[in-house]
Amino acid sequence: PAPPSLAGRTVVVSAGGTREPLDPVRYLGNRSSGKQGVALARALLDAGAHVRFVSAHVETPLPEGVELTTASTAAELREAVRAAARGADAVVMAAAVADFRPASLAETKIKKSPDGGAPTIELVRNPDILAELVADRARGEQFPPVIVGFAAETGDARASVDEYGRAKLAAKGCELLVVNEVGVDKGFGREDTSATLLWRNDDEPGRHVAGTKDDLARALVEVLSETLNR
Ligand code: C5P
Repeated sequence: PAPPSLAGRTVVVSAGGTREPLDPVRYLGNRSSGKQGVALARALLDAGAHVRFVSAHVETPLPEGVELTTASTAAELREAVRAAARGADAVVMAAAVADFRPASLAETKIKKSPDGGAPTIELVRNPDILAELVADRARGEQFPPVIVGFAAETGDARASVDEYGRAKLAAKGCELLVVNEVGVDKGFGREDTSATLLWRNDDEPGRHVAGTKDDLARALVEVLSETLNR
């Protein structure tokens, strides 16, 4: 088969973990390294795509040649992704977006109270950037025809990783979901990965990829190339 080509295509990739400030020195964050998004940017560049890289907190060097925007909080990432997505051919939401943020930001450092008590931190929900892109596209916004989500799932006694993936795909409404199996020695910060690519309009079991984050990135670029060049 012909190598994947995304020449002339613009693809948005969000990557890394968001941070939600609590006070001037503290934040709520997550363990995302951004490595998967960076691997994806590299594979997209190799396939000739123009890459708009929306970077939250990424712990690995970025490839040269991306159009870079940085964002720290989920709110900033949302604005940056929406601006980058207008007129692009695909968006891949590889960023680990905080689901909640502190309800208020303390203007000064939160202090230990003399009575030994601990503060209670009230949280509020962050918007779901991915689900919003899908919903606003349906309302006529110029967002891409291909919107891709990532999901980190663990199986349990009730359902497999793929079953949870199917349910999440339906809930988000995006075209493609990369279901990453996470567990004690898989996922965040690791080089190797085990994932299934699930299409929304497809009853097929999905395409399983085991290997490095670069292997997964190349598999995703292949399906993006097949889809956009169909
Ligand atoms: O619901 P869950 O967090 O598992 O979904 C993960 C997917 O949704 C990822 O693609 C992530 O980038 C995206 N997401 C988002 N906005 C949020 C939370 C997750 O776009 N607030």
